[in-house]
Amino acid sequence: MTAAPAAFPPSAGAGPGPETLEAVRGDLGECTRCKLHAGRTTLVFGVGSPSADLVFVGEAPGRDEDRQGIPFVGRAGQLLTRIIASIGLSRDEVYIANVIKCRPPNNRNPEPGEVATCEPFLFRQLDVIQPRVVVALGAFAVRTLLDTDQAISRLRGRVFDYRGAKLVPTFHPAFLLRSPERKRDVWEDMKRVRALLAGPSSAP
Ligand code: URA
Ligand code: URA
Repeated sequence: MTAAPAAFPPSAGAGPGPETLEAVRGDLGECTRCKLHAGRTTLVFGVGSPSADLVFVGEAPGRDEDRQGIPFVGRAGQLLTRIIASIGLSRDEVYIANVIKCRPPNNRNPEPGEVATCEPFLFRQLDVIQPRVVVALGAFAVRTLLDTDQAISRLRGRVFDYRGAKLVPTFHPAFLLRSPERKRDVWEDMKRVRALLAGPSSAP
């Protein structure tokens, strides 16, 4: 038996201590670091298990997400929930976040400066969660996370090493709503995700 620590680590303020999702959220605060703050209703941080093996990363909140403060709750989000269920998991068992935490006006693509400002918070979330698999949803998320200009059609179907995890690119559920014939590809990607999650841990 080991003795209880004499002093508990500081839990508030910017001092040293274990990084947590709460600390990352606290540092974001009522963020005004980029101009997207002006148009947002609610900052959309992320939802799910802080110890998830599987994380889904999308682009940015849309209208429904901006209102509710929860990622992927609109039509595309409902499809994502079904995609997650297709491999026997629930939204509570995974983690869902976006590269950008505030809704861009009229859902325009986020600008490079907005990505550069916001992405470090996603990296901190991923470093706390330490997932085994990251699914990048759609061209924007895949290209941003992998820092590449390649087309999503060339990136999906492959598995990449990413921040200690395996990154699986797939199509965005909003794209699937317009192109349902590509659902077969996403199903192939999700089978790959399931196999990666079932396989041996890749820790060195
Ligand atoms: N599209 C995204 O990329 N993220 C959301 O949260 C909702 C729609
Ligand atoms: N273009 C996108 O932006 N996302 C997809 O998933 C597919 C094509």
